[in-house]
Amino acid sequence: MTLILAHRGYAAEYPENTMLAFKEAEKAGADGLELDVQMTKDGELVVIHDEKVDRTTGGTGLVKDYNYKELRKLDARFKFTKLSEKQQIPALDEVLEWLAGTVLNCNVELKNTIIPYEGMEEKVINMIRDYQLSDRIIISSFNHYSIVHSYMMAPDIEIAPLLSEGLYMPWVYAQSIRAKGFHPHWRAAPDEIIKSSLESGIEVRPYTVNKDAELDRLFRVNCSAVITDDPAKAFQIRGNKKQA
Ligand code: G3P
Ligand code: CA
Repeated sequence: MTLILAHRGYAAEYPENTMLAFKEAEKAGADGLELDVQMTKDGELVVIHDEKVDRTTGGTGLVKDYNYKELRKLDARFKFTKLSEKQQIPALDEVLEWLAGTVLNCNVELKNTIIPYEGMEEKVINMIRDYQLSDRIIISSFNHYSIVHSYMMAPDIEIAPLLSEGLYMPWVYAQSIRAKGFHPHWRAAPDEIIKSSLESGIEVRPYTVNKDAELDRLFRVNCSAVITDDPAKAFQIRGNKKQA
């Protein structure tokens, strides 16, 4: 069955990358989450998509210039102004602690292409180990050097390269870096690429799949997973069925 991974949580209906969006994704039928990790000035791993806090909070400036305590004062409600309660930028630790009590999978995306956060991989791996989540987490990044570095430190934790463009035989590339799957932009995942990858034992989890027809196509071709902003819609198109 094609798994449903909620992109930044249930980002279609709730503020992205917040505990609220993650908890609502679980309720909506997601099999797992996708989230983004950046690092604060004092080395805390935090869950926020952009290098800057500007777009998703009332604040300004780079995450790397904030201490964790200061960052937590920001409100990540984003465009969801009708929400009555303030939403904090979560620490990765907080998300994983909650995740450990669920059956969800999680794709942790290291946001280290623009800012090469020193030591990020090791911190993420240690945290995954602390919560004994090695078999439920996939580390991905557009920075492929970083995921290979992660794999060398922790071969028991799956890695997946993010591919924004089509690649020639991406399953061969994935195999070459010891990844068991890859995460292409949905436009770079035609049926033939998915079929050839699956035949080679390589999983394909396209992002960010929000259109009904695309979700339907990917379920029909039995793609490994879809990364979507709208897990409720994906769950409905999948036939309201949970994985066995
Ligand atoms: O993990 C897939 C997707 O999240 C990558 O793009 O910009 O939404 O982090 P972005
Ligand atoms: Ca992401």
